Amino acid sequence: VTRPVPVIAIDGPSASGKGTVAARVAEALGYHCLDSGSLYRLVALAAMRAGVSFDDEPDVAALAGSLPARFAEGRVFLGDEDVTEAIRTEEASVGASKVAVLAEVRAALLDRQREYRHAPGLVAEGRDIGSVIFPDAGTKFFLTATAQARAERRYKQLIEKGMAANMESLLKDLQDRDARDAARPVAPLQKLPDAVLLDTTEMDVEQAVGFVLDRVRS
Ligand code: DC
Repeated sequence: VTRPVPVIAIDGPSASGKGTVAARVAEALGYHCLDSGSLYRLVALAAMRAGVSFDDEPDVAALAGSLPARFAEGRVFLGDEDVTEAIRTEEASVGASKVAVLAEVRAALLDRQREYRHAPGLVAEGRDIGSVIFPDAGTKFFLTATAQARAERRYKQLIEKGMAANMESLLKDLQDRDARDAARPVAPLQKLPDAVLLDTTEMDVEQAVGFVLDRVRS
């Protein structure tokens, strides 16, 4: 009898710290890691580059279906171009949440995400990992924090990277994106009944990682 490769699903809103927590948990367990948001960000960037509007469903879905995405040594590539920073700009973030509304785009990215499930295990993070991509995940988390706390974290990250940042517009963008991610009819962001709630407003990364690892191991 072969047992399915274990999956840990971490879903939650923008800038909740999912990415960092997922990467650290994967490292601690020796698991693979999937940052599904980067795929939507890559699709948005590809659309921007191709001059395709974010609401042009067939054309954006075609880009998503043939996305030349590559992840290597912590860097993200679109074709030969290193777009690690380019997919993190506010423009790409807003674009990602717009293309993520399109059912055909989500369908085009489905198999690509499921292919990440390899032994010894996978930590996958996003919005619909526990609901759509890996509904049979052994452990599911809903990682969140107040919008204010998340905006402050994003602000610090941008400043540390020497990028421009405005607290007011960051908070506004975050709230708009939250609303779009949660209100869409296809695969909305939601706290599933079988997901463990983890509010990191008052927690640092260490504590959040410890919480997840304790749950997974017990
Ligand atoms: O996690 P992130 O902020 O990098 O995600 C960027 C956008 O992609 C986010 O606004 C919603 C979308 N997304 C999604 O719809 N489903 C996922 N599994 C991951 C991200």
